[in-house]
Amino acid sequence: MRMTRRTVLLGAAASGAACVTSGAATQPTSAGFVRATFVGGAAGAWRVVSQRAVIGEGLAAVPFLDRLEGPTFEAQAPGQWRLVGVRSNERYSTRAEHDALASVQAGLGRSDATRACLIPMSKSAAWWALSQDERRELFETKSHHVGVGARYLPAVARRLYHGRDLGAEFDFLTWFEFAPQDEPRFDSLLDELRATEEWKFVSREVELRLSRG
Ligand code: HEM
Repeated sequence: MRMTRRTVLLGAAASGAACVTSGAATQPTSAGFVRATFVGGAAGAWRVVSQRAVIGEGLAAVPFLDRLEGPTFEAQAPGQWRLVGVRSNERYSTRAEHDALASVQAGLGRSDATRACLIPMSKSAAWWALSQDERRELFETKSHHVGVGARYLPAVARRLYHGRDLGAEFDFLTWFEFAPQDEPRFDSLLDELRATEEWKFVSREVELRLSRG
């Protein structure tokens, strides 16, 4: 792995776990584009508390995980798996929804948010065959994704990365941070979203629960 300052700070993953190749190759910098690499392996800032396949195929079990953001993707070392995505523009939120969420949501990295969850997921060909207005209708009018999610702010902090246009292993990498006492609320958020029309179009979903500190 190329050693960046971030890698050193967050903990470089070492060899040891089963190796699975995931995602696209390391790419050159392009200004303003934030690339995220999730590295599962024998070391990392987050300890994996549990890991399971929710829909479809899972990922090789790993004891630790790092979430690394920067202008380039991190390279993969032997014994690790790697998932990649990018921060991107919003597709579905209205201005009013965006502003309402922005007024209450918390940022990542809060000192008391010592629990996290990584949910890599993909949607089916049927979802991607829909037009934008049909997807928005499923996402919010029928499933209330934003309306449901808003009730869990600011306890749950979140970040969404897109992988589909990179040809990555997952269409989305979703990341959540919360305090230990809010984990039951996070469970309830997942229950609500997984019962929606939107989730009928989820073709693969993996859940990793994490802890630090
Ligand atoms: C914490 C509460 C949550 C809030 C406030 C929230 C809010 C949002 C918003 C506003 C978007 C639309 C972004 C856009 O306009 O493109 C979005 C997209 C998305 N969210 Fe959530 N969300 C929450 C929880 C979750 C959870 C728990 C999951 C996974 C289990 C999840 C998975 C996704 C995915 C995959 C997308 C992209 C959907 C697509 O583009 O088809 N969200 N979320």
